Amino acid sequence: MAFLEAVWGEGFMSPGGTDEVDRYLAGISLDEKSVLDIGCGLGGIDIHLVQQHGAALVTGIDVDPALIERCNLLAQKYNVVAQSRFVCVDPGPLSFDSESFDIVTSKDSIIHIANKHDLAVDVYRVLKPGGWFVASDWLAGYDGEPSREMQEYLIAEGLDFGLASANTYLDALESAGFTDIEISDRNDWYRQQAREEREQMGGVLYDGLASKVGTEFLEHEIDVWDKMIISIDQGQLRPTHLRGRKPELV
Ligand SMILES: C[S@@+](CC[C@H](N)C(=O)[O-])C[C@H]1O[C@@H](n2cnc3c(N)ncnc32)[C@H](O)[C@@H]1O
Repeated sequence: MAFLEAVWGEGFMSPGGTDEVDRYLAGISLDEKSVLDIGCGLGGIDIHLVQQHGAALVTGIDVDPALIERCNLLAQKYNVVAQSRFVCVDPGPLSFDSESFDIVTSKDSIIHIANKHDLAVDVYRVLKPGGWFVASDWLAGYDGEPSREMQEYLIAEGLDFGLASANTYLDALESAGFTDIEISDRNDWYRQQAREEREQMGGVLYDGLASKVGTEFLEHEIDVWDKMIISIDQGQLRPTHLRGRKPELV
């Protein structure tokens, strides 16, 4: 957490900061809306949704209680306690009533949820008619086996990635009943961005990061970044924006 936040900014466990959030939300109003954020992490996005997008209530869910605690502290720091709530959940179906939210969002978290079809059905269920699912995630640029370099990256990253391709997401969203589906590839942007992050980690940020997380962990992360950059360059790993709408009349 300390490492990711130092690289990506306060409250963020994913790249691009608030600019990237604004980009995937472009054209969708959150003003006075009720928002669910799946995999809220450290809560930086949720604070932004309240402060800059005018959300009436943001519900952030995450499976890690330590992160939920951090979200609550951040909400206090930025004075958005009344407009936010953070809930620790078990992995699995969403524990909310049908038609509870105007917007369901997620940034780089649904990669951890293996079954995209079940997820799409569940997101559709908790959305009000006319509501939007709008997210960003890491997608696979392949439908079969990953390249050898991508496999090396996945092993080095050591996470239980549930990577899926754009075809899988499209099928999941269509099958669940979503309309106005858009899937926008962000590979070109992150190719450049990842290189800048890598340069900073090995340069201006190195000493500060090493004192936070130790040299051994930092060197491991730099190695992960090197492997990730190869996978991004190959188009095997593709940051992607996703959106779809639940029709007004269902
Ligand atoms: C890469 S972080 C992104 C956090 C945040 N959205 C951000 O962009 O800063 C992924 C988050 O998803 C959470 N997560 C993993 N599986 C989950 C699940 N089944 N339900 C909700 N959150 C989950 C992790 O604990 C982690 O906080």
